[in-house]
Amino acid sequence: MDQQPIAPEQFNHLVKSRRSVFLKQFMKGEQVPDKIIWQLLENANWAPTHKHTAPWRFCVFTGEGLKKLASFQAALYKKNAGQHFKPDKYEKMQNNPLQCSHVISIGMKRSSEANIPEMEEIAAVACAVENIYLTAAVYGIGGYWTTGGITYETGAKEFFGLSGEDKLLGFFYLGYIGTPSIAGKREPIANKTTWVDG
Ligand SMILES: Cc1cc2nc3c(=O)[nH]c(=O)nc-3n(C[C@H](O)[C@H](O)[C@H](O)COP(=O)(O)O)c2cc1C
Repeated sequence: MDQQPIAPEQFNHLVKSRRSVFLKQFMKGEQVPDKIIWQLLENANWAPTHKHTAPWRFCVFTGEGLKKLASFQAALYKKNAGQHFKPDKYEKMQNNPLQCSHVISIGMKRSSEANIPEMEEIAAVACAVENIYLTAAVYGIGGYWTTGGITYETGAKEFFGLSGEDKLLGFFYLGYIGTPSIAGKREPIANKTTWVDG
């Protein structure tokens, strides 16, 4: 450890006060510096990972890149939707990424060598995403993990450098916070915990 650890109460406060901040709450047109996005990714990279497979894979979209993402996902949705096509959903596919400063696609690269269950690779990526959430919170940046858009569409994952048994796990939408989220709510953890000491 190259620095003093942060005070436990500070960390506890961070964990508890971290909130998802949704598109409507973003400050329009405010750009997060790329340097901060790299820090989110750097911290994601320190997530726990069984057998060090480090299965997280990210693509960052910003600037003109957001338009590329938007066009791709709208077109793929249209192609796949057939008779279930909904114009409002198509419009969201085209517009949602454009309301962000950056969008990070969240991918899971399936290890062919480590022989660990898929569930563990997905769990490791989820740990990485929590690091993104917490890092965004300390920098005063809003964002959330969405499994909307084309997350589960056939033909989506290749656009994000994934293939075969890899999985697209969604997107992290990022922007500066215009309207803060209201305080979170959780059931007491004791309701979800069995404590065995005898
Ligand atoms: C795996 C995962 C997928 C999610 N997908 C969506 C989504 O598609 N749309 C959405 O509005 N929020 C999504 N969320 C964010 C949740 O809505 C959010 O975490 C929840 O409302 C609790 O709020 P909090 O993050 O502020 O504690 C997702 C969260 C996780 C962990």
